[in-house]
Amino acid sequence: MKSATSKKTDLIVHKNRELTAILEVSRVLTASFELEKNLQSVMSTLGNLLEMQRGCVFLLDPVSKELRIVAAHGLTKQNIGKGKYRIGEGIVGRVLEKKIPMVIPNIGEEPLFLNKTGSRPEKDGVSFLCVPIEFKKEVLGVLSVDRIYSKKHGSVDDDLRVLKIIASLIAQFVKLWESYEEVEKEKENLKRELKGKYSIENIIGQSDRMQEVFESVHRVAPSKATVILRGESGTGKELIAKAIHYMSPRSKGPFIKFNCASIPEGLLESELFGHEKGAFTGAVSSRSGKFEIAHKGTIFLDEIGDLPITLQPKILRVLQEREFERVGSEKTIKVDVRIVTATSRNLEHLVSQGKFRDDLYFRLNVIPILLPPLRDRGEDISTLIDHFSKRFNKENNRAVSLDKSALQVFLDYDWPGNVRELENTIERLVIMSSEDRISSADLPVSLNIRRVRGAEGTTSLSGNVAEIEKINILGALEKTGGNQAKAARLLGITPRQIGYKIKKYGLEEKV
Ligand SMILES: Nc1ncnc2c1ncn2[C@@H]1O[C@H](COP(=O)(O)OP(=O)(O)OP(=O)(O)O)[C@@H](O)[C@H]1O
Ligand SMILES: [Mg+2]
Repeated sequence: MKSATSKKTDLIVHKNRELTAILEVSRVLTASFELEKNLQSVMSTLGNLLEMQRGCVFLLDPVSKELRIVAAHGLTKQNIGKGKYRIGEGIVGRVLEKKIPMVIPNIGEEPLFLNKTGSRPEKDGVSFLCVPIEFKKEVLGVLSVDRIYSKKHGSVDDDLRVLKIIASLIAQFVKLWESYEEVEKEKENLKRELKGKYSIENIIGQSDRMQEVFESVHRVAPSKATVILRGESGTGKELIAKAIHYMSPRSKGPFIKFNCASIPEGLLESELFGHEKGAFTGAVSSRSGKFEIAHKGTIFLDEIGDLPITLQPKILRVLQEREFERVGSEKTIKVDVRIVTATSRNLEHLVSQGKFRDDLYFRLNVIPILLPPLRDRGEDISTLIDHFSKRFNKENNRAVSLDKSALQVFLDYDWPGNVRELENTIERLVIMSSEDRISSADLPVSLNIRRVRGAEGTTSLSGNVAEIEKINILGALEKTGGNQAKAARLLGITPRQIGYKIKKYGLEEKV
């Protein structure tokens, strides 16, 4: 017989364990937002700290209305797979349906106990405790536990109390996890929508950088705000300028392009602002300038960095007041134009050199949109190739396409001339190629040379030649389905030479 003190000590130890288990369960539940992992930790905690032989967390699938084991302790994988219950089926199902805990003192004598998981060959002596996992009257699932009772253990009531607390912790976690998942899903959806959300007809740009550009275009197009497009030559500045116009409320009005670098300085003023008859020698009649013609539309001032300093004050006035006088006239003309400018030059540098007025710079720089160079958005290259191939094939009635080796050269090249260079290269290939399938061997050597420069940063000639040879040999082999003799003929070398070079460049594996 145990003394009263030792019984009391047992009780304290037991209570302590319960408390530790509850604390531990709440700790693991808040450790992360991984449903199965956290619930699995809960079950292991219960197994270790409360000496429960087996345990399961079942959660209700809102669609199939079935209970599914999400975490378990003391069950094999097969057992887990079998453990599906419908509402009202077996004890677990009953608990779910009635939303009340159930205890089966000896599962061997209970007909309702279905032992679906098949995990208890000898049922006698094992008690089964089962509590609903409930959040604000909504049953989310069931927590079940097997226990072999001995004198050492506390009472069933104690166990039920602890399990109820743990079930309510689990319920809170599951709810939190559900809303977390929902937010995450929403975030993912938004991201996916954003990717490729902004599109502009005939302008390619799936890359993040171009998507940012498109987003800005969509934002600014409806307004009358002055936009400056910056970026290297051939990045699409003019294309974007047109898009801004055609996506704006003034799309029905004129789009007037004027290149500030294309006309001798002496003629610029009259071109832009017009002149009166006799304003200067040769002005036989009066003429309106680009600003007047662009009335109710958009004027696109390209190469604005080349605008002579003498003309800058007059442009500044148009920007501020939307007014000017024709050359040789005192009559002020008012226009309603939107001004879009572009430059590939370093305007800040020009300002610091005194070649560009800073007040004009600030006026123009209201909304800058930077067009990224092609080398910073490699992921757009394939789409651009498709886009241009389609166009030029259609125009030339051809069906030319690039094979893998050629595509790789295009992807590796750094495109100093940006999209324009890519566009021209594709056009040339479509027109000039004698075959429909183009391999790296058919590509202009310049593409391959640059590729080597880009890759190595140096231009050692022997290195280049080797690299070009390698690419050409691979291309020829690809074209001839690995037939070395045919490939050699294609390259204008003997089979012996190609064999030697394949060895020299270690291409055996690729052949
Ligand atoms: N994103 C794009 N999608 C499809 N075509 C493009 C794209 N960007 C540029 N292009 C094409 O590339 C060529 C060069 O574009 P654009 O003339 O707009 O460049 P730019 O920046 O004005 O160049 P530059 O500074 O040399 O004037 C054009 O034929 C244009 O249609
Ligand atoms: Mg241009």
